[in-house]
Amino acid sequence: MVDARQVAYLQALGVDVYVPRNAPPLHAVVVVDAPPAALAPAIKAAALPAVAANLDWDELRAAVAACQRCDLHATRTQTVFGVGNPQARWMFIGEAPGAEEDKQGEPFVGRAGQLLTSMIRALGLRREDVFIANVLKCRPPDNRDPKPSEAVSCRGFLERQVALVNPTLIIAVGRIAAQNLLATETPIAKLRGKVHSFGAQAWPLVVTYHPAYLLRSPGEKRKSWQDLLHARQLFGRLEQESASRGRA
Ligand code: URA
Repeated sequence: MVDARQVAYLQALGVDVYVPRNAPPLHAVVVVDAPPAALAPAIKAAALPAVAANLDWDELRAAVAACQRCDLHATRTQTVFGVGNPQARWMFIGEAPGAEEDKQGEPFVGRAGQLLTSMIRALGLRREDVFIANVLKCRPPDNRDPKPSEAVSCRGFLERQVALVNPTLIIAVGRIAAQNLLATETPIAKLRGKVHSFGAQAWPLVVTYHPAYLLRSPGEKRKSWQDLLHARQLFGRLEQESASRGRA
């Protein structure tokens, strides 16, 4: 159910809150995307040297700060590592830093970031409760889309971040993040509303629209609210399952 505080946040987002009396049950299907044949070998080949898989937070942060694995190091002001609770149960993963993030060294601090923070609050969480990262740690010039080779170069860092956080649920924020994380070219409309998985331990992952897209297309905010409701319901179920496994 939606509580009064969340209604206030949603109204601030311009979302008319409407919860159908007979809301459909959450998709029970777990969709595990197989990477397209063209992408799969690239992802494997790009895995960072084995030592990166064992880096602790400080070592990983230092490795990202020193990274020159792709040309973006030449144009960045600084790397944008990620921010939040290192033991968060929720992890939000976007596309790449923009101009403001490149300047401040923190993900999602511009206009889109403010909307993401409101979306997090609509889930009943605070920004500092979750962990926020991007597929790319460096800003692509002129905010162009990440090149596949750049995403592949950064992937080992992201996989290690996810392994260190070990979240209950990952939210892929936007089409580019979702398609990169799932190594698929499936349109976002088909990725939403399903439960996917990411990485070595098949962390559950759901997809929603990017806040920058929602700022351009406010009519889609209702769908993003549906995604958040699905995510919250799934999260509760996953936590329950993990608690009962702990009791078994
Ligand atoms: N968009 C993203 O995907 N990530 C950011 O950090 C900022 C804007």
